[in-house]
Amino acid sequence: MTSKIGFVSLVGAGPGHPDYLTVKGARVLSQAEVIVYDALISDEFRALFPANSEIYFVGKRCGRHSTSQEEICALLVNGAQRGKRVVRLKGGDPGLFSRGGEEILALRAAGVSFEIIPGVSSVFAGAAAALFSPTHRGLSNRLLVFDGHALRHDDFDFRPLLAHQATTVVLMGSRQVERLAAGLIGAGASPELPIALVENATLVDEHVAVSTLARAAAGDLVPRSDGPGIIYVGAAVALAQASPSGAAKAAA
Ligand SMILES: C[S@@+](CC[C@H](N)C(=O)[O-])C[C@H]1O[C@@H](n2cnc3c(N)ncnc32)[C@H](O)[C@@H]1O
Repeated sequence: MTSKIGFVSLVGAGPGHPDYLTVKGARVLSQAEVIVYDALISDEFRALFPANSEIYFVGKRCGRHSTSQEEICALLVNGAQRGKRVVRLKGGDPGLFSRGGEEILALRAAGVSFEIIPGVSSVFAGAAAALFSPTHRGLSNRLLVFDGHALRHDDFDFRPLLAHQATTVVLMGSRQVERLAAGLIGAGASPELPIALVENATLVDEHVAVSTLARAAAGDLVPRSDGPGIIYVGAAVALAQASPSGAAKAAA
């Protein structure tokens, strides 16, 4: 009798709504025997989990990691070593700010076969929600994507963000938007440079706010929810479209 060989799929779930899961991701998920998922996966995904699969939630709860990265890697390796089809479902694309790198190394070290199924990153879902292209020709010829946690450091250097014709995209930084705007102006950016904050892209409470660095530095671009938010800064952001205000929405 040959024992079953396990396999791990690192699957990008997309920005939130299950409609943005790829066809391949959905197929693999429908065949999963072990599912390991985290906080950015909306509840609607649970309807796609096979009824008899083992399900592990490993996201943050109340600001604390409920499961350490080592434990997550062990879950994946152990599932595969038991001969299971394991799906590691991750928000957006599994390769972008997701600890996917650690999981890849752990699987490799354990000699487990795996694949990576890309997903729609919030970098693009947020721009799509704001109805603009972050590399609009003539306005932007590069993207600078960075982890906004770095903005909390007092010695953060804003000057490298001022690249000519770049659209700067900040993940995990929506609570730092005022500091970002003030820091960019301090580093020499035009106070009139447009900045947008997109919250909950693809979800029911999706919201896009557009401002300038000067107004954002004065506090007019405040997150409306505790959900995920992404920031865009640069000349191309002038073409972003804000969500209608409450009054305009009611009149529409
Ligand atoms: C840990 S990072 C993971 C990024 C993910 N791998 C990706 O490709 O989008 C989480 C950050 O992604 C951004 N994000 C994820 N989903 C989002 C959404 N639906 N709307 C706005 N931003 C989102 C937020 O900046 C959030 O803090």
